[in-house]
Amino acid sequence: MADRLYIFDTTLRDGEQVPGCQLNTVEKIEVAKRLEELGVDIIEAGFPISSPGDFKSVVEISKAVTWPTICALSRAIEKDIDIAADALKYAKKGRIHTGIGTSPYHIKYKLKSNEDEIIERATRAVAHAKKYVEDVEFYAEDSGRTDNEYLAKVIEAVIAAGATVVNIPDTTGYCLPQEYGEKIRFLKENVKNIDKAIISTHCHNDLGMATANTMSGILNGARQAEVTLNGIGERAGNTSLEEVTMILKSHKEIGIDTNINSKNIYQMSRLVSTLMNMPVQPNKAIVGRNAFAHSSGIHQDGVLKHRENYEIIDPVDVGINESSIVLTARSGRAALKHRLNVLGYELDKTKLDGVYEKFLRLADRKKDIKDEDVTQLVGSIKKEDRRLKLEYLQVVTGKGLESMASVRISIAGESFESSSTGNGPVDAAIKAIKLIIKRKVILEEFLIQAITRGSDDVGKVHMQVLHEKQIYYGFGANTDIITASAEAFIDALNKIPARK
Ligand code: KIV
Ligand code: ZN
Repeated sequence: MADRLYIFDTTLRDGEQVPGCQLNTVEKIEVAKRLEELGVDIIEAGFPISSPGDFKSVVEISKAVTWPTICALSRAIEKDIDIAADALKYAKKGRIHTGIGTSPYHIKYKLKSNEDEIIERATRAVAHAKKYVEDVEFYAEDSGRTDNEYLAKVIEAVIAAGATVVNIPDTTGYCLPQEYGEKIRFLKENVKNIDKAIISTHCHNDLGMATANTMSGILNGARQAEVTLNGIGERAGNTSLEEVTMILKSHKEIGIDTNINSKNIYQMSRLVSTLMNMPVQPNKAIVGRNAFAHSSGIHQDGVLKHRENYEIIDPVDVGINESSIVLTARSGRAALKHRLNVLGYELDKTKLDGVYEKFLRLADRKKDIKDEDVTQLVGSIKKEDRRLKLEYLQVVTGKGLESMASVRISIAGESFESSSTGNGPVDAAIKAIKLIIKRKVILEEFLIQAITRGSDDVGKVHMQVLHEKQIYYGFGANTDIITASAEAFIDALNKIPARK
């Protein structure tokens, strides 16, 4: 049977320490409930002595959450521990996380103490926490830069005092993966009572090694990993929950499982990013916008032939259901055909070639092509059979200038030109078209809509035109909104029956 790794999520404590990422209590409760659904084992809900807000959040999260253990942080100070215990009074399963610095830097410069006194303070804190809860976690802050022999002495003493979990933080993100793994192994092999506690990793990402160090710790015997969603946290952040979880899921040969329901990962990542105002870098592993996006023709073709050619994780496993094929100017016909099929279009080779040519022209102007753009491209092919076609449109407009439009339209194969001024460029273009068609039409409704948000976006125009008491609808889409408007008008005109 596979071993179990406990996932200790500290998004609401270490993650929330990031300036600008603070959440209010209601938001924290929402995150906590979703962490419960995600399947985390322990939620570090806050540092109660640090502020009344943190205290309240630990209280409310304890009430709101059912099965995960709720953990409250404290320093190795009795008052801190008392307040943490008070904040946990409603927790169905409560844990106090107490600790002290053990590296020479912390002992000498931060705590102005000595090694023996640190062991005494550590054990006293654990024993005090033990009066309130059975589950006490001890952190040896800056373990990454703590001498292994001394660290082993501290850990043995705190386990003897009642610690059920021993946290070995690489607080400054300094360790190399091999070094961190060896530290965990050293503790496993040299702490006499180590079997009475679970070893926990807590790695920071200052040198980009947080996940590698956590994995090295796990491979060497740690069975709890302290992580955050999207890897948020102090400075360069903490180990990310999604990376550790998906590494273990992808490498079954390691033989360690978590309780995480990976299908909730993507949604959870978005929630944390939105609430904390912390964008996820596009190339972030697992949850970044580009994590499953294939844009080069060769990769797209490879993925379409067999997903695993270029993907080691099925995006569906982390809750991403969208197509991973991003249409750009570098996409080939295979990718376009695939997207068309997904959208329900089956085009023969000649039609596909036609759409592909138009697609390349659009892709040169627009960074990535959305489904709406593709639908529009297919529609524009059909338009070639229409009686009225816009062949040419030029507008002159600007501040302090009267707008002027020149158009050329072909009607049943014959070209007609005209020009007009107007109250703005769209009005000028519509008036110029009306001069050609010589039919009494009234523009009743005119709606412009951007498909996404960029300035290079395709604008959609819907129009409603009245002719002889009958309404006709027209639609146009173009990166140029004036052309889209003229096309929408002509689309509506095409629906008016030709004169006998
Ligand atoms: O990084 C660290 O050392 C910590 C401890 C408080 C656990 O966050
Ligand atoms: Zn930390």
